[in-house]
Amino acid sequence: MTKRIGILTAGGDSPGLNAAIRGVGKAAQEAFGMRVIGFRDGFRGLVENRSVDLGGSVLSGILTIGGTILGTSRDKPHKMKIAGKTQDMTDLIVENYHRNHLDMLVCLGGGGTQKNALQLAQKGLNVITLPKTIDNDVGMTDTTFGFDTALGIATGAIDRLHSTAHSHHRIIVVEIMGHRSGWLALGSGIAGGADVILLPEIPYSFEAIADAISHRVKNGKNFSIVAVAEGAVDTEQAATRARLEAALANAEASEDKKQRKEIKAELKALEADYVGHTMKLAHRLEQMTGLESRPTILGHLQRGGTPSAGDRLLATRLGTACAEYIDDGLSGVMVAARGDSTEPVPLEQVAGNKKLVPPDHPWIESARRVGVCFGDR
Ligand code: F6P
Repeated sequence: MTKRIGILTAGGDSPGLNAAIRGVGKAAQEAFGMRVIGFRDGFRGLVENRSVDLGGSVLSGILTIGGTILGTSRDKPHKMKIAGKTQDMTDLIVENYHRNHLDMLVCLGGGGTQKNALQLAQKGLNVITLPKTIDNDVGMTDTTFGFDTALGIATGAIDRLHSTAHSHHRIIVVEIMGHRSGWLALGSGIAGGADVILLPEIPYSFEAIADAISHRVKNGKNFSIVAVAEGAVDTEQAATRARLEAALANAEASEDKKQRKEIKAELKALEADYVGHTMKLAHRLEQMTGLESRPTILGHLQRGGTPSAGDRLLATRLGTACAEYIDDGLSGVMVAARGDSTEPVPLEQVAGNKKLVPPDHPWIESARRVGVCFGDR
């Protein structure tokens, strides 16, 4: 019997998604004789049964293209907005899986997608995932596709900011994507020679950053580059968040709904207060050091455009291994990158397992040795 597989891409887009779709699809069809279809716009396309045949020449010529030919969305199967109302659409997904006579659903995505995929697997569907995100924060895999491209883009941006910061004797605070994990800010900060790197994993103090910049001025370096992750927090914000998260865990354990609601609202307010923090940081550093300061937010530039050679290679390796795993009868796993090879990892070990930057990671040690300040001392 010819196996039928469906592919979808979910969560934020990432360079290398098309290379992965092509890797899975071509290997599945050409090496293993399967039929392949795609679903549009992530899990929403599966709910609405919007599919596209990925046979014939559809997969030709997409290796080098950014984004995803299938489209994507951040919709979750169990919490989807339908006609303005949030609904659990899992049962319809299960129904459409069978309506399309699928033997396997391949989900390409980051941390959220791994959790959603596990839930579908627990509903009895055959599911395999691939790890995709520019954040590089999916657990149980060496790396994720999209990260290498974004690393190159952010590093190139820091290179360009250097010459203007140097010419004007300014501080430039550059915001790099990464809400809860700082791999991208750390990697590009090191590769681009940033003087200060601020990560969500290491709360910073304004004084420590200002001291480091003033120290540079004393040594004749009257410009500085501060690479700040989108989700970096100062020590005060970190303490407030830790207190609220602990309180939320208690409220959840005691099933106190009212208290849970109140704490969630407080956490939301904290996040809202956080919007524009890069601007505030630049302003504060200008006041504290006397140097002119400018913010730059790289934003979605980091996710757009042609995937790097490294991401094309990684996505092709993972995609083709995925087809082989399906042929072998595996399911309920993520195709992880392990050295030069790949490894199937049970989704239970991946879902909810965010890979944060350990504060004693060798990259951090190296950065400190070349004089980078992390705002913590
Ligand atoms: O998950 C990848 C990511 O790029 C994060 O770094 C960033 O916080 C988020 O997506 C932005 O998401 P959106 O494109 O939905 O605004």
